[in-house]
Amino acid sequence: MGFDREDFAGKPVVAVVNTWSDINPCHTHLRDRAESVKRGVWQAGGFPLEIPAISLSEPFMKPSTMLYRNLLAMETEELLRSYPFDGAVLLGGCDKTTPALIMGAVSCGLPFVYVPAGPMLRASYRGGVLGSGSDVWKYWAELRAGRLTQEEWDEMESRIASSPGHCMTMGTASTMTAAAEALGVSLPGASSIPAADSAHPRMAVESGRRIVELIRSDGVELSAEHFENAITVVLALGGSTNAVIHLIAMAGRAGVPLSLARFDELSRSVPVLANLRPSGAYLMQDFFEAGGLRGLMSRLPLHDVPTVSGSSLAENLRGASVYDDDVIRRVENPLLAEGGLAILRGSLAPDGAVIKHSAASASLLSHVGPAVVFEDYDDMNARIDDPDLDVTPDSVLVLRHAGPLGGPGMPEWGMLPIPKKLLRAGVSDMVRISDARMSGTSYGTCVLHVAPESFVGGPLALVRSGDMIALDVSGRRLDLLVDDAELDARRSSWTRRPRPAMRGYERLFFDHVTQANEGCDFDFLHGAGGVPEPAIH
Ligand code: FES
Repeated sequence: MGFDREDFAGKPVVAVVNTWSDINPCHTHLRDRAESVKRGVWQAGGFPLEIPAISLSEPFMKPSTMLYRNLLAMETEELLRSYPFDGAVLLGGCDKTTPALIMGAVSCGLPFVYVPAGPMLRASYRGGVLGSGSDVWKYWAELRAGRLTQEEWDEMESRIASSPGHCMTMGTASTMTAAAEALGVSLPGASSIPAADSAHPRMAVESGRRIVELIRSDGVELSAEHFENAITVVLALGGSTNAVIHLIAMAGRAGVPLSLARFDELSRSVPVLANLRPSGAYLMQDFFEAGGLRGLMSRLPLHDVPTVSGSSLAENLRGASVYDDDVIRRVENPLLAEGGLAILRGSLAPDGAVIKHSAASASLLSHVGPAVVFEDYDDMNARIDDPDLDVTPDSVLVLRHAGPLGGPGMPEWGMLPIPKKLLRAGVSDMVRISDARMSGTSYGTCVLHVAPESFVGGPLALVRSGDMIALDVSGRRLDLLVDDAELDARRSSWTRRPRPAMRGYERLFFDHVTQANEGCDFDFLHGAGGVPEPAIH
């Protein structure tokens, strides 16, 4: 499209930042949605310009999209800063795209509206319901155990992505788009609309109209109360462990201090109300039909904060209803009395670790067992199915060198596979500990984000196979039961791995990324919101 000055003279110029890409199946519809957004901008008297941004396609980007979340955040910030835009509509949804786009826009300081891609429709397989991610892990275990044929697996795989849209379980994508709505940066109800529903393009048009009005008003400044609302919603959803890292990073960009401790304090009092996989039974389409996020939020104690809709959160929730009390539970009948996430500390995780106990085995939440240590991901893959591996159902599987630096990029390796010989004996869960992350769609008794990570010499680096490890989720403890003198001796002989060979961006990441408990953002970008640009004459 060609344009000249008269096209936008006097009109608010809106960037439509689009993470559409051929290689991102979760965003296939965003090319159309960008057109809907532009229609809304034109209707309200603004001038829209679409700009592409890196898509961060979760299924294809290796070793982890997490390595590139900060790159998309920087790209978004610099696109918005370097061109003469007055505001932005951001289109994303697949896992890291939501935090990255919002981090960049917050750092830039322009008004913005976030348009969530929306979840896929419900999928079916042989008369049952399939949930993306969660059922992949379930059937993969069956395949490894020899209880599923390759043909059955192929058929299941061909059924599981049922439409455009992001994963339709309560994985990281659904968690973070809900968090964005709870932050007040998406229109009310936007995050629950399935991508293929006719309400989705209508929401995109309305977002385009709304940004023009937002540019003409004061915009919305994110406060501590906004972030507490987002945490409360994530906990009530049984949301992804990844939300802890992303919300800390997003708050850092807004200049709002957010600690792991606050997640845990809220988790003690917020019940899990959403009966969604992997913690519960249903999928996002069921959630939408049951009243969606507005229905859920109407049952939660939230701060009344300004939102991009132009109304406060309480006004947005007026008239919200729940139509199915099994999908969105009443407070008196929760799926779990506490929030879905717990923050652990102890001698093995002095700076914290995270577990999604709503998707773990209740019988393993208090457990003492001997460690089976894997030095890194390659070592784990080489030995996990070795028939001679000294492992029992009581063992605690430990993976190190999988953190922000050790991975690098904290890949989603934290749901270590159950050794085949135990799978075949009927074992379906074990205590697993790592400095990695795990997919939000995954489940099991997996302690993640152990900080400091092993690569920098955190206690995880000192564990040896056979050491006893104690997990106590209700007491919020994770301890290595080795005496101090022995640990001191191991520490004095420990040496850091050599730094891997790296190119440009990887070097920037390696030199500046913070630990998991600090959000894995770049240290020089914390609190960077609203830095004024010098005037150009
Ligand atoms: Fe994109 Fe799950 S693969 S959200």
